[in-house]
Amino acid sequence: MSPKLKKFVDKLPGIDILRPKHTNYNTPYYEVKMEEFHQKLHRDLKSTRLWGYNSQFPGPTIEVNQGEPIEVLWMNELPKRHFLPVDKSIHHVAEHPEVRTVTHLHGSETQSDNDGYPEAWFTRNFEEVGPFFERSVYQYPNHQRATTLWYHDHAMGITRLNMYAGLAGLYIIRDKQEKALNLPKDDYEIPLVIQDRTFNDDGSLFYPSEPDPPDPALPDPSIVPFFLGDTILVNGKVWPYMEVEPRKYRFRVLNASNTRAYQLYLDSEQPFYQIGTDGGLMSKTVKVSKLPMEPAERVDLILDFSNLEGETIHLKNELGPDADPEDETNDVMQFKVNLPLSEKDTTDIPHFLSHIPTLRDNRITNIRSLKLLGSTDEYDRPLLLLDNKKWSDPVTENPILGATEIWSFMNLTGFTHPIHIHLIQFQILDRRPFDLDLYNEQGDIIFTGAATPPAPYERGWKDTVAAPSAQITRIIVHFTPFTGRYVWHCHILEHEDYDMMRPMDVIDPEGEE
Ligand code: C2O
Ligand code: CU
Ligand code: CU
Repeated sequence: MSPKLKKFVDKLPGIDILRPKHTNYNTPYYEVKMEEFHQKLHRDLKSTRLWGYNSQFPGPTIEVNQGEPIEVLWMNELPKRHFLPVDKSIHHVAEHPEVRTVTHLHGSETQSDNDGYPEAWFTRNFEEVGPFFERSVYQYPNHQRATTLWYHDHAMGITRLNMYAGLAGLYIIRDKQEKALNLPKDDYEIPLVIQDRTFNDDGSLFYPSEPDPPDPALPDPSIVPFFLGDTILVNGKVWPYMEVEPRKYRFRVLNASNTRAYQLYLDSEQPFYQIGTDGGLMSKTVKVSKLPMEPAERVDLILDFSNLEGETIHLKNELGPDADPEDETNDVMQFKVNLPLSEKDTTDIPHFLSHIPTLRDNRITNIRSLKLLGSTDEYDRPLLLLDNKKWSDPVTENPILGATEIWSFMNLTGFTHPIHIHLIQFQILDRRPFDLDLYNEQGDIIFTGAATPPAPYERGWKDTVAAPSAQITRIIVHFTPFTGRYVWHCHILEHEDYDMMRPMDVIDPEGEE
């Protein structure tokens, strides 16, 4: 358990915008170093050892305009030993260097050799590289519409540890259409990167080295099937506060936690005006009072603090009815409406935001029914699988470039899995509940209710979808614009590492398979 930390004593930090090192023939070129450093995460906590991009936690934000490609040299300058417990029994981790990194730009439409494939890892100064390593300078085309993406580590078998150590940052794409909307901007457009962590008394990060209770028959260290920190951080500070003016603000919210899902709400009973999902602006602004966020999901929100001068408002996380009363993760951060209004707020909460063409009218050329299920490994530890296959099994998801497919996730486990597909933004079709006990006894799917359309807060472009237990969640996906090797996986990092991740090939219709 973390030491007792007073809430709302540290100011919400801003996040630096990364500047390009130079511009090569019109293409901005950036350099990012992954480094070990120490950062103060709370007033009363000693500095915490972290790994971060350019020694920042979260990493610096990369900001680009649609249609302007950039290049990034990702460099690993980390120590050779990990400071978190590496389980060597999974994924041939024992055969590889202990510290490996590869950066993935989550939600981006990027060519496969720039996507950050888990086996395209590299070590310090590129001394050793993984079997899929092709390049050190990554190119991002930025063709897609304006949205909030994020970059993070994706190294095979240790992603949960590298990201917990701090390797994640935001990447914002802007476009003309969004700029024309008169949304709050500059000082009134704020990123909120939400993460959970647990601290030791000396300020260091705690991450379990084995399941609880310990079992001497297990490998040491041994991966845990999930991890929930007991302390919430926003932009790298524990339970921070933010001073705001009585006006509208735009918040780009990212859940960058390993396992934790949030149910965000405001204790002022104000609604969130949601304007965007993972893949950018929605078609219309939706008013939501409670916002569920699975790991890796982003929401773009407007909060209106007008007429709330002098008030203190909390961004809360609703815990379930059987939550431990000691659980402090019901708080996320605080807003103090105590700054004078510096100028009249002339920004809008537009009703119409953007045009989102539906994929429902496309010709569907394939329907894939994919089970999310649990089994056990040779040590009797939980082993979660996608369609009963491991990472190392041959590729089975191989859509043809340009095809539209329905992927249907049948969740046979007892909890929600946030399923993420690289390369594309998709749309959620529906969810339908079935009798899981009956399925477990007899293997038949008996629906217990009608299919329900996506919730208002997820009606837009998505790259990560909550697939709840005992439901079939269907999404519709148009595979474009690149061919090649990608991945799809559960974004609970403890699941992704073992073994809820599968390779995926997008195949050229003309080429040989
Ligand atoms: Cu957030 Cu495979 O990624
Ligand atoms: Cu991704
Ligand atoms: Cu999962």
